Parts: sequence; C-alpha cells; structure tokens
Amino acid sequence: MRPPVLDYGNMLAPRLGGRGLDPADLDDRLAERFRAALREVERRRDAREMGFFDLPYAADTLARVKEVAEGFGQWFENVVVLGIGGSGLGALTLRDALLGPAWNERSDEEREHFPRLYVLDNPDPHSVAGLLARLDPRRTLYNVVSKSGSTAETMAQYLVVKGVLQQAVEEDKVRGHFLFTTDPDDGALRRIAEAEGVPTLPVPADVGGRFSVLSPVGLLPAGVCGVDLDALLSGAREMERRCRGDALATNPAGLLAALLHAADTEHGQRIHVLMPYADRLRSFALWFQQLWAESLGKTVEKDGVTRELGPTPLPAVGATDQHSQVQLFMEGPRDKVVIFLAVEDPGATVEIPPLHPEIDALAYLGGRTLAELLDAERRATTEALRLGGRPSMTVEIPAVDADSMGALFMLFEAATVYAGALYGVDPLDQPGVELGKRLTYALLGREGHEAEEPASPDPRWRV
Ligand code: PA5
Repeated sequence: MRPPVLDYGNMLAPRLGGRGLDPADLDDRLAERFRAALREVERRRDAREMGFFDLPYAADTLARVKEVAEGFGQWFENVVVLGIGGSGLGALTLRDALLGPAWNERSDEEREHFPRLYVLDNPDPHSVAGLLARLDPRRTLYNVVSKSGSTAETMAQYLVVKGVLQQAVEEDKVRGHFLFTTDPDDGALRRIAEAEGVPTLPVPADVGGRFSVLSPVGLLPAGVCGVDLDALLSGAREMERRCRGDALATNPAGLLAALLHAADTEHGQRIHVLMPYADRLRSFALWFQQLWAESLGKTVEKDGVTRELGPTPLPAVGATDQHSQVQLFMEGPRDKVVIFLAVEDPGATVEIPPLHPEIDALAYLGGRTLAELLDAERRATTEALRLGGRPSMTVEIPAVDADSMGALFMLFEAATVYAGALYGVDPLDQPGVELGKRLTYALLGREGHEAEEPASPDPRWRV
C-alpha cells in the first residue's frame, strides 16, 4: 500500500510570489530547530511518556481487542460508545472514514450483520434520550470509554444507561451489557469493574485521550464493526518509522510541525485549516481540531515572562466549504494555512450523464464523474490560494482505507508532539480545562468544591 505523500511546495516563497518561507531555511534554520524538537520528543519517549508511538506494535493488546470484538462484541446489534474528547472522537472518526457516515442507516445485510455504532459524547439530554429511546437496550453493548474513569459527562451517561438497563434486563445481566475502556489500575470505572465483574480493556498509562485512537479506545469500536485492525496498525507502523528520522527533509511529521510552527510564529499564520475533500474524512478534521487545540494551546511562564501560545485549528471540508469559508481563506486576513487532504480513489464511481449538451452551464459536466469534479475543485482551490500568495499543503492518500487511516493518525499525532516541542509547550497536558471542571463540580454540589461558585450574571448587562 502506498503511504501518504505530503506536498509542501505551496508553503514556499518561490511558489507564492515571494510571500512564503525561504526553502533554504528548511535545510538550516528549520532543520536545526527540528533536530532539537526531535531530541526532546525522544527524551520523553525514553521516559515512557509518549506511549502512542508504540501502540501499533502492541500485539498482545491487539489480540485481546480482537478476542472481545469477534467474541462477545458480536452478540449485539448496537454498540454505543460513551466517551468525550479524545475518548469519543477516535471511534467517530474511524466509523465515518472506514464504515461510512451512513453506516447505521444500512440494513443488517449491507452491514454484514456487524453492529451499528454510535458515539454519545455530549450529555445533551435531547441526543441521549433520543438515542436511548431508539435502541433496544437488550441488544446493545455500551462501551464506556474514560481514561480517568471520572469525567463528569461520561460518568453521568454511564449512570443513565445503567438505570435504563436495570429496567430492561435482570440485575445479573446488566454488567454483560457494559465494556469499560479505562486506566489499567485507577479510577472509578476500574473500581466498579472490579466490584461488579464488568469486562475491561486498558488505556495504557502513558497514552492520553487525544492520542489514544490506536489503543483499545478506537480499536474496539472499529474492530467490533469489522474494520481491518491489522491494516490500520500496519499503516501506523509504517508512518511511525518514517517520522522517526532526524532529517527534516524526509520526515513528514517533522515537516508538518516545522512548517506550521514557522507559519504561525514568523508569518502570523495562526489559523491552521484542515480541509479534506471527502465526506468520510469530515470527522478526521474534528479529530485533528481537538488534537491540535488541546495539545498546543498553552500558557507558559519562562524567565518571569508569560506567553500564551498555540495555533487555532479550523475544520473544513471540500467542496462544501468552497461555498462557505473559502471566501475568507482567499480574501480575508493572511493568517491561515490550509492543509488539504486529497484522496486518489474516491471509493465509488458516479457518472454525470450528458443530458443537456445545448446548455453551456451543464454541458461541460456531462460525461465526467463526480470524483473528477471534486478533484478539479480541490486542485483549483489550491491553485487559487497559491496565485493569491496564500500558503497551503496537501496530504495525498491513495484511498480512505484502514492502512491510510492508520498512517494519517500517526502522522498528525507525531506532528503534534514535534510541534509541542517547537512551541516549548507540553502537548500531553490540558491544565486549562481544570478550572471549568472544578466550577462544574461546585455548581452540582460535589463535596469539597463548595468554595468555587461561579459569579452570577450582572443584571446591568442583560437585556
Ligand atoms: O485528550 C484528552 O486528554 C481529553 O480530551 C480526554 O480525552 C477527555 O477529557 C476525556 O477524558 P477521559 O478519557 O479521562 O474521560
């Protein structure tokens, strides 16, 4: 299988009318910076802090996931993932990319009797109540995914679902409808699993939520629906090897990180758009958004100076956003880099019949395919940006298949930790979300959080 290709020519001054990066910088300044970033990442890998690099090699975990997915996972008509942030987005991305966004609408025969797959991330009562009312709990497996085993949104959903199951099945059958994916030792879910005999899969201690898609967090939901996990991990392995080297010119993750970091910090291009030209990759753009934002948006204090750092990721999709955000990308502030995702094999052929040769506005389309139209639109948008001196990159994949998805996940995860080192931030933590969590606890009366009530709205400024 051909690996993804990164085309970064449209980041460089010779192709952007002088507005881009100097190619010579890639050989010296950026290459040197990247070598330092790589050393920092290697140090943390050696300290066993970056376990996501090793996930594609975890043969025992894969065997255990397959055992569950191909065994008791197949007893159910529906699998519902309860998980938020990095604990939900991986499963959603894998489902949409490899099974198709309309997977749950397909008949049993079309799904080859693999279960439907839902991801409930937001505790929006309308979504939760709506889904629970549609599914027969007796035929549903609830995969509760939480590394910490204590996230309020996921724990609340777990409690709601457990209540529903207690009404629907005998008490001793309830645990058989749950599978917990959580920390191997700690957290409330682990305690419940041990006390009640709920089956579990581990999230390795050195793998954080947004880097966990290739752990049981993503593998189980995908595997239970028949996704080729071997191909997924083999694509990731191949990419992991390509992203190890210290030569920037041949390291695609290094190039992504170094170019986007330089675009932000030296050219004011702080908004990083990920724009796949495939509906199946819409969720991948959301997955990237979370990875890039939560990993790189940080406040750092150094030598008494406070710096608020981090690019803003923006998901888009082609060609839909050509009729929405592309106007802004073309003529708005020069603060963006667009990363296009191009797919060579569209996965389906739809011919456009030549039905109106007499009408110019339709005649040129007749005899073409929808894939030709979509690809021409991508190439045209790339070129229009280039002619306007606006930077972009293109990641090309041969097809939206398991192999390519494994490679894409690894490419962007490796780029994220390299970018973290370039920015001088810790890409693995998220201290900025803690205060909001504590205030939520206070509002809901969690013991020990009484002192942190949020301020009430001021009536003077409400109309
Ligand atoms: O990427 C992250 O670390 C977060 O987005 C977490 O995945 C999210 O907060 C959910 O955490 P947990 O898996 O502990 O429930």
